[in-house]
Amino acid sequence: MKRRPLLAGNWKMHLNIADAVELAKNVAAAAEQSDRDVMIAPAFTALSAVAKALKGSRLFLGAQNVAWEAQGAFTGEIAPPMLTDIGVRMVIIGHSERRHIFLEDDAMINRRLRAALNYDLTPVLCLGETLAEREAGSTFQVLEMQLRGGLQEVSAAQAAQVVLAYEPVWAIGTGRTASTDQAQEAHAFLRRLLAKIYNKNLAETVRVLYGGSVKPDNISALMAQADIDGALVGGAALKIDAFERIIRFQ
Ligand code: G3P
Repeated sequence: MKRRPLLAGNWKMHLNIADAVELAKNVAAAAEQSDRDVMIAPAFTALSAVAKALKGSRLFLGAQNVAWEAQGAFTGEIAPPMLTDIGVRMVIIGHSERRHIFLEDDAMINRRLRAALNYDLTPVLCLGETLAEREAGSTFQVLEMQLRGGLQEVSAAQAAQVVLAYEPVWAIGTGRTASTDQAQEAHAFLRRLLAKIYNKNLAETVRVLYGGSVKPDNISALMAQADIDGALVGGAALKIDAFERIIRFQ
């Protein structure tokens, strides 16, 4: 089955408002020429200005995290309706930096994901093993725990709205991409698991992105794999020439 490619830029903790707006406009112009889905996730401080600059564009605006309550005493958090209020449509959840630096666990990630779904935000659920876990041979075990944990109490109808992003921790920001075989193997595993948890139809429709040192010169080989439906890009999404080449991969 053909799934629509999604090329997503995670801007992490980079760019002031002016630079974010400029880059967003350039990405929007590049996306306009393409029939692929494109998403950018700027830092919270730039979201509102970028949303205004993107009015009428077909680019998907994303956030880098979301809280699980609609409002209240949650210092430092951003609620789902605050995001939808300004036009955000997607949200990255469970990024490895959230898991490993800020110690978010599967239970917390699951609460964030369910809240996003309840507010019609498309969650991009990130999962991936560390180098130690890969070397210990527990990659699939880790992926299974993260997928089952992240999708706890999520119905099939809701799970069909989720995007997955396989990001092996050892490939993030290191210049060390997973080989196409390693990536394909993990993606196929996640898809089989979705079929087991839900059903085959759902597994065939959910998009699974790859993330970890994606660059213009490796995107085509990754996208040629049967179960890779797009990319979640960090560093290379901050430069318009690189990200544009990624969007336009052949
Ligand atoms: O979410 C994207 C990411 O973690 C990958 O970052 O810089 O390796 O493309 P990078």
